[in-house]
Amino acid sequence: MATNRTFTMIKPGAVRNGHIGAILEHIVAGGFKIVAMKYTKLSAEKAGEFYAVHKERPFYGELVDFMSSGPIVAAVLEKDNAVEDFRTLIGSTNPAEAAEGTVRAKYATSIGENAVHGSDSDENAAIESSFHFSGTEIY
Ligand code: CMP
Repeated sequence: MATNRTFTMIKPGAVRNGHIGAILEHIVAGGFKIVAMKYTKLSAEKAGEFYAVHKERPFYGELVDFMSSGPIVAAVLEKDNAVEDFRTLIGSTNPAEAAEGTVRAKYATSIGENAVHGSDSDENAAIESSFHFSGTEIY
C-alpha cells in the first residue's frame, strides 16, 4: 500500500440521512481519487474487530452498536499526503470542534455519530484498507 492512500467509511448515520452523494462529491472535489469502494454492512463482530484498538474505552460498546446498525460506504482514497489531507477535509472527531465547511461540521450529528471515519496514519490506512478490500478490489 502506497503512503499516499487513506481509508474511509461513510458511517451508518450519514447513510441513513441521505448524505452519501454529498460526502462523495466533497471528497472528490477535495482532490481525492476513489481507488476502491463498496456499499456494505458490518456485523457487530466485524465492527468490534475494526475498532479493537478502542476496546477499553467507555464508548466502545456504543461505537460497535452504531457501526453495525446499518449499511456503510467503505473506500480507499488516493492523493498526495492522503492521510493528513483527508483528516483536514473531514474535520475534528467531535463535530462541535470541526472547522466550518468540513464533512463532519456539515453532516455529523455527534462525536459518536460523526459521519465519516478517516485513518490516522499510513500504517493504519493500509491495515484498514485490507480489512475491507482484497488487492484485486483496489484499482
Ligand atoms: P473514528 O474516526 O471512526 O474513530 C473512532 C471513533 O470512536 C470515532 O470516530 C468516534 O466516532 C468514536 N468516538 C470517539 N470518542 C468518542 C466518545 N467520547 N463517545 C462516543 N464515541 C466516540
